[in-house]
Order: sequence, then C-alpha cells, then structure tokens
Amino acid sequence: MRWQWQLPMLLMAMRLVHGQQATAEATTEEQDEAAKFFTRLYKRNLQQLVALRNESIEPCDDFYAHACGNFGALGQAPDPDDALPPFLYNLQDRMQFFQVQHENFQTLPGKLLAQLYGECRMRGQQHAHLEHMLEQVPFLAAHQVVLAGWPFLRHQWQRQQLDGQLNWIQLAAQLAAHGLPTLLHIYFAEQTIYVAPIQELPCPSQREFKASMSDVLTGRHAQVAHIVAHEMRMLCRGMRGELPLANSLTEGQRERQSTPAPGQEQLELDDNTMDYMQSFFSLLNFTEQELATARKLPVNVARITRAWSVLRQTEPRIVYNYVLWQAQQRLVYEDCFELATEFERLLHAEYWQWHVLAPQLTRDVALAMYQLHTTRFQQRRRSTLGSRDWYGHLLPASVERRELQVARLLQAHAQHYLNITELTSRYGQVHFKPYYFYGNLLQLRRAQLRHSFQSPYVDAEDVQQSAYFLRHFLHFVLLSLHRPMYHYYATQGLELWRESRLLQDTDGYYTALDCLERQTQQRYDVQQAAIYRPLSTHEVANVFHFHRSFQAALRDYRFWLQGERFVFAEQFVLQYFGLDEHRILFYAVAQQLCNRHDEIFAAQLNRGYMNMPEFQAAFKCEPEAQMNPPAKCMINRCE
Ligand SMILES: *[C@@H]1O[C@H](CO)[C@@H](O)[C@H](O)[C@H]1NC(C)=O
Ligand SMILES: *[C@@H]1O[C@H](CO)[C@@H](O)[C@H](O)[C@H]1NC(C)=O
Ligand SMILES: *[C@@H]1O[C@H](CO)[C@@H](O)[C@H](O)[C@H]1NC(C)=O
Repeated sequence: MRWQWQLPMLLMAMRLVHGQQATAEATTEEQDEAAKFFTRLYKRNLQQLVALRNESIEPCDDFYAHACGNFGALGQAPDPDDALPPFLYNLQDRMQFFQVQHENFQTLPGKLLAQLYGECRMRGQQHAHLEHMLEQVPFLAAHQVVLAGWPFLRHQWQRQQLDGQLNWIQLAAQLAAHGLPTLLHIYFAEQTIYVAPIQELPCPSQREFKASMSDVLTGRHAQVAHIVAHEMRMLCRGMRGELPLANSLTEGQRERQSTPAPGQEQLELDDNTMDYMQSFFSLLNFTEQELATARKLPVNVARITRAWSVLRQTEPRIVYNYVLWQAQQRLVYEDCFELATEFERLLHAEYWQWHVLAPQLTRDVALAMYQLHTTRFQQRRRSTLGSRDWYGHLLPASVERRELQVARLLQAHAQHYLNITELTSRYGQVHFKPYYFYGNLLQLRRAQLRHSFQSPYVDAEDVQQSAYFLRHFLHFVLLSLHRPMYHYYATQGLELWRESRLLQDTDGYYTALDCLERQTQQRYDVQQAAIYRPLSTHEVANVFHFHRSFQAALRDYRFWLQGERFVFAEQFVLQYFGLDEHRILFYAVAQQLCNRHDEIFAAQLNRGYMNMPEFQAAFKCEPEAQMNPPAKCMINRCE
C-alpha cells in the first residue's frame, strides 16, 4: 500500500519542482497549461512570504513585526492579485480553481452550477439588477409593468388599485418556495418540516435603507426614499420585537395564558399564515403522502406569532415593499463565487467525480495523502474518546472501530451524500433558460430546497462528523495543488486542531496563566511593551490554545515530511527562497495574521512562539534576545 502511492506523490512533487525551474521552456502539451498555472501560484506564494518580511527587524527581537513588517509596502503593489491579504489564501485558491475549471465540469450538477456562474458573470451592469430580476423571474414578470413603479407610496397604490393585483402573502410564499424566505422560514431535513421565524431579519438603519434603494429611486422625489425607508424600518423593527405591539395587552395576555411547556409548542395559524403555507407547499409540489407523514416541528412559536401579528397590523403595501426589497437585496450577488458556496453540494459532487482533478492527481493518492495528514489527529481523537466514555456515545458506531480509516469513512459518506446518480435525477428536472440568470437561480434554489426534504441533516461544521472531513478533504486537495504543503499545515491543519478542542487542558491553562504573568512582571518595560504587555485571562487562554495547536500542526508537518521523505523536495524549493523546513511554518502562521488587529495578535503570537523550544531551535535566539525569555512557559506537560 505505502509504496503504491509513495511513488506517484514523489513524482508529483518532482513535477512541481521541475515546472518551477523550467517555466521558460515552452511546451504544447495540454496539461502543461494547468501545470504552469499551479506552479506560478506556488512560486508567488513563496515570493510573497519573503516579501512580507521586514529584514531590518530581527526575528528574535519581535517575530511578528519581522514577519509582517512589509505588509504596508506590499499592499501598494501595482498588480492587485499580488496584494491579496495572506489570510485569504485558501478561499482565493478555491476561487481560482473554480474560475479556471468550471467550464470543464462534466456532471449534471456541476454543469448547472457552472452555467449559473457564467450567467452571473455576464449580467453586466449592476444598476439594471432589479429590471433584470423583474423580467426573468416568472412570478414577478407577470406584474412587470406595475412593479416598475416599486417601491410604492400610498397614493400610488390606491390610484392604481394595486391591492387587487399584488399580494404580499403570495409573493413571500413564492420567494420562499424558491429558497428565499423573507417573513417566515420553512426548511427541511429528511422527512421533517421546520417552521421558524427568520433569524436576523434584515433591518438596516433608515439611512442604509435609503442608500440600498438609491438606484431604483433616481428621478423620484427625495421624500419618497425617506417615507419608504421609514415605513420598512418600522415594520422590521416591529417584527423583531423592538417596538410595542398596538394591541399589546390582549396579545400579551393570550401569549402568557397559553405558554406551553418547551417542545410542546403549537403553532396557531391565522388566515395569513395558512394562506402562506398553502401557496408555499403547493409550489414545492410534494405529494400529499409526503406532507402527511412528515414530522412538523415549529421553532420559537412566540416569535413567529409576534412577527405575524405585526404583519396583520401593517398596510399590505408596506409589507409588499419590504418583501420585494429583501428579494432584491439578496439576489445582488456582487461576487458570483458566492454561488459555489451556496450550492456547495453540487460543486463537491462534481469535484468528487474527479473529472477536473484527474489531470493533477488521482483520488486514491489524494485520499492517502489526506489520511496521512489526519493520522495524528485521529490518534489523538481516539485516545481522548477512549478516556471519556460518555463522549463516545455521541458518535456513530462506525467511528468506534479500533483504527480510524478516514479515507474509508469519507468514501462511504461521499457515496451517499454526493451520490451522483441521485443528484442527477433530482436536478435533472431543472431546465435552465439561456441567459436568464435570476430565473435559473431561483429554479436551482427551489430544487435544492426540495432536495433537502429527502436528505438527512448534515452539519459540515461539526468536527465529529464525516461531512466536516469531506469538505476539508476537498479543500485540502485544491490547496495542495496550489501551494507548498507547509501552507496547508499552517492554515487548515492548524485550524483542525484549534477547532477540535482536543487539546484543552484546565490544569495546563492555569499553570500558563501564572507563568505568563510572571514573565510579564519580569520582562515588561516601556521598550518591550508590545511584546510583554499584560494579558487578560481570555488572551492567556488564546495564547495557550494557540501554543498547543501550533505545536500539534508543526508535528503533523514534520510527520508528513518524514513519512514521505518529502523533505527532499520541500527543502529544495524552500532553499531557493532562503527558507528552510524548520522555520517555514512560523512564518506561514504569523503572516495569516498580518494587519489584522496587530496590537492584539502581536502579543499573542509572540508570547506563543517565544515559549516554544521548536522556535528557539529554528531561530537560535541569543540568550538575551527579547524572544528568548530565560524561563519558558507551557512546556511541562505529559502527552
Ligand atoms: C522595517 O523596519 C524598520 C525598523 O523598524 C523600519 O524603520 C522600516 O520602516 C520598516 N520597513 C517598512 C517597509 O515598513
Ligand atoms: C408536480 O408534480 C406532478 C406530479 O408529481 C408533476 O406531474 C408536475 O410536473 C410537477 N410540477 C412541477 C412544477 O414540478
Ligand atoms: C445512489 O442513488 C441511487 C439512486 O437514487 C441509489 O439506487 C443508490 O443505492 C445510491 N447509492 C448509494 C451508495 O447510496
């Protein structure tokens, strides 16, 4: 097994290294284009790492200042691509890969997403956004002529008798059935219907409301913006419970009398909510059988009731204005890559089929690399789980096997979650109309919403679940194509440890609290203020957690280097830039923080680093150096 993938990996590394040396050699092979793209990024990454440093500041004096010292100068680089803040690297890589490859997608879900992305990019001028929306969304197009006069004032509404034509309940239900909830959030997990209030109902200040409508209101009297913004703001504040209800006494009494035990809440539907739900579900086209057997779970009924009683007391015209305003805001898509996040499952289904990745590396090799990357993490997780039995109950049986086979777990999960046969049949019913971005977008959102009714709930943020590792596996692959491996360990590898909370240790934290305080007392003076300033308990917790996570990530990196004898290739590349594999991770991690709350991170990062034997070994600080306190904290512990 080992040898089977060790060789291809080494070959890949050789190709990267080779490509870098030989960028001038012109070749006509098809894959060469892609290879050049990757090596260029790879090289730029290291160039930027070097360029960010301020060489006139010694690493042993103030590492953070040394590592980030030239950030300001770099920000003024003429090529905006070169001036990207380092902490955007990972997202940037995924974006670039998507942009370069989306036209080569081969699965149906992937092609839908790619087409939508292309149409999003071609929309042209943003100021025609609402116009296009009204033209392309079928249920808006039916009212296109009157909607040109949106937002509506009272006299307009009365004169044109819009009450008979425009219905806010219909509009809100139609939008919601197309994945755009505005007044009530109905969402699904496998055979379950949740009815919830809108979390974070949008409610900007009056000024922001006005600014957001400045495009559509050009040519109308300045008063219009003022009136409409005021009306909408009153509405959303009311719905959020920030204003007293007009008939608050009776409402309050009713609510109090019927306050049920938690979990037993009953949603009392008034005429409006009934209408809303009826339209909503008929648009989604579930079978009666499906609806009848599904579990129905209302969430936070009191808030729904309050919001909808405000709606009942509000002029329909104002509600209509507000609903359409939300739709218009939410469909702006200033950055079309948002689509890739919104329809991540489709994108990942495409990637998992490996069509666009195959020219770079095979899936087996990638899985093996990823397994290697997470090995130490999984070992630690196992031992932590073993020592905390109750914890194990929360995990599916498959995770409790002696050896954690990440690769196999991922494959099993992907086969279900990214089942291409299933996705193809579900999304096969979507029929895009060429160049109808908004119409197509809403169709795809509707299909996604329908699909969620058949899908088990997946929490991709939960480090205990396969979904988390599947997402990170794909990020890992894209990142490893773009960047030297150290970069992965410095970003996502580190994040893995930090988020897992596997390294938490109360005793260690209290020891660190004492020790770091003593360090402050011994070393703090006006010159060294930035480095040895007193830390709050919260900051100590961060330093402590960072210290441990960094060491874990550093060991992962070394484990990977040794495990694959990859050190040879890595050294070769790093040497060219005057770097080495002992120091590189310190830079890579520090530079993610450049120019973000410098005064906070400078102290935290420096205090973390100076107390690491690994840092002292890599930078060989003199005994009297600032970054080399005589007594180190956080180093006595049993692993
Ligand atoms: C680099 O550090 C030196 C010494 O602190 C400082 O004088 C100089 O302005 C820094 N360079 C940049 C580009 O910030
Ligand atoms: C709704 O479902 C019916 C039967 O299941 C089907 O014939 C019809 O095409 C569906 N309509 C839409 C818009 O999906
Ligand atoms: C994938 O989906 C198809 C069609 O829905 C189904 O027959 C098959 O069993 C699924 N495969 C897995 C591994 O779930």
